[in-house]
Amino acid sequence: MYRTYTCGELNIEHIGENVILSGWVQKSRDLGGMTFLDLRDRYGITQLIFNMEIRPDLCEQARKLGREYVIRVQGLVVERSNKNLKIPTGEIEIETSNLEVLSSSDLPPFTIEEKTDGGEELRMKYRYLDLRRSPLQKNLFLRHKMAQEVRRFLDGKDFIEIETPYLIKSTPEGARDFVVPSRMNQGQFYALPQSPQTFKQLLMISGYDRYFQLVRCFRDEDLRADRQPEFTQIDCEMSFVEQEDILNMFEGMIKQLFRNVKEIKLADSFPRMPYDEAMRDYGTDKPDLRFGMKLKEITSLVQGKGFRVFDQSEYIGGINASSCAGYSRKQLDQLTEFVTQPQIGAKGLVYLKINEDGSFKSSVDKFFKEQDFYQWKEALEAKDGDLLLFLAGSRRNTLFAMSELRLEMGKRLDLKKNVFTPLWVVDFPLLEWDEDNSRFTAMHHPFTSAKAEDMKWLDSDPGRVRANAYDLVINGVEIGGGSIRIHVKEEQEQMFRHLGFTDEEAEAQFGFLMNAFKYGAPPHGGIAFGFDRLVALFGGSESIRDYIAFPKNNSGRDVMIDSPSAISEEQLKELGLRVR
Ligand code: AMO
Ligand code: AMP
Repeated sequence: MYRTYTCGELNIEHIGENVILSGWVQKSRDLGGMTFLDLRDRYGITQLIFNMEIRPDLCEQARKLGREYVIRVQGLVVERSNKNLKIPTGEIEIETSNLEVLSSSDLPPFTIEEKTDGGEELRMKYRYLDLRRSPLQKNLFLRHKMAQEVRRFLDGKDFIEIETPYLIKSTPEGARDFVVPSRMNQGQFYALPQSPQTFKQLLMISGYDRYFQLVRCFRDEDLRADRQPEFTQIDCEMSFVEQEDILNMFEGMIKQLFRNVKEIKLADSFPRMPYDEAMRDYGTDKPDLRFGMKLKEITSLVQGKGFRVFDQSEYIGGINASSCAGYSRKQLDQLTEFVTQPQIGAKGLVYLKINEDGSFKSSVDKFFKEQDFYQWKEALEAKDGDLLLFLAGSRRNTLFAMSELRLEMGKRLDLKKNVFTPLWVVDFPLLEWDEDNSRFTAMHHPFTSAKAEDMKWLDSDPGRVRANAYDLVINGVEIGGGSIRIHVKEEQEQMFRHLGFTDEEAEAQFGFLMNAFKYGAPPHGGIAFGFDRLVALFGGSESIRDYIAFPKNNSGRDVMIDSPSAISEEQLKELGLRVR
């Protein structure tokens, strides 16, 4: 027998029992007459003691054990004189009577403890060792618990989990596809799904009514802290529903997750904000509502006064950094550096300090009068002691930069409090203009339906048409998104035409879906949540990597298995990728 208990189980009630434990040697302390050893497994840590006077042989044996050896011990549970009340097993220890090495270990490349000395790259290479550490274990347990809770909720609402294929054909959803060459169909390729979008719609046509899947999705896009090339969605679809039905259903799911996993009661119903309002007030479609500091447009207020930068700009906006008039030259320079870095892209930063005595100090003093500054102060609802920050440029780029500046100030002023602020962003535009290709593309995806009342603009002013599309945003993170779909063949055909597909291209890529629409398609809609992001949010981290057992690094590599890698000439030939 390897164990009668785990290493996290024994306490004062087990005193006097003879037990068997197995686990890893976390560390040992040799105090001459006594050797103490921490034995670790998934469940916790139990202290073993070896007494030189009673069992010198065992004590010698214990001293030779290296870190991360796997051992089995037998012994008596005794009360500790020096108790550690921080861990559940801290009141007892094991007086060891038998010790057996099950597996030895090389010296691990970093310490396997709560806090480790290993750098990022090294820990990724030895991910299986990093996964032994309790912070990562906690993350994976959290992920497991949330997955169970999601399944419990959806099962309770009559959703059925159905698997859809991974070897499919590409669906244009914004990112690039990963492709897989077919040996049996040389010169042809499968694509890995960016999402099961078309399959879940087909399942609605098949009459399954409520579908879900915890499903891996693959997107060949540039990676960031909250993006992995393969990630997991909670993918859902429902028939005979309108937007409101979907928002209510999934608000329920999110609330249940917060309640059962984090013991947090969220507001009864999540606020809803039109896309236009989010862009106007926050400069982004995923506002972080943990703090205010809304953007104010002041374009008409400041133009025509001779300041070239403002006069030549499409949009000028500002935020009020409350009580920051005391900012030093250096702090202001840092902010300017922040907004002008390439990722943010602003050309400069204008500030207006409203000193405690009500006087003004600005970087554009020579172009504006005190009168003007009073107007700015009023527009931004500022008081004495506040600092106003302004950016100017094209509307699109400046809103983005303002939104980043707002988040940066929120961080500096410690306004991102430890609360959760869910928000539905609704009424997204159906189409967005793609500068590079000079055409409209679907903002969500081509299967999204337009608001009936906006259809009249589809030909004359396509950018104005709003979609039945929605995103769930929590603390500034896009957690999920979905839409009510088109379910009429002619409407889908029309949409493809608007997106610049010829009828032949649409038929070649999506003929199967449009064909299916001919055989009785119910009205339907759905949503998909980024499961990794949701878990990271629950875990209190912005990076999803530590919530995925075996993630890829920022270059899309798995440094542990060293992938991607070259394949043999023979494999290439077999796949028809080398013509010879
Ligand atoms: P969408 O493309 O918005 O919608 O994706 C849904 C959610 O998936 C998460 N997500 C990601 N998470 C980690 N890494 C990535 N690379 C990544 N990309 C997306 C986000 C996002 O909100 N088929 C539609 C859903 C629908 O219409 O029902 C879809 O995939 O949290
Ligand atoms: P310049 O005319 O480029 O020397 O800029 C004059 C002032 O305006 C400097 O303080 C710049 O930081 C600021 N500035 C320049 N471009 C912008 C912009 N696009 N938005 C906000 N401030 C700017």
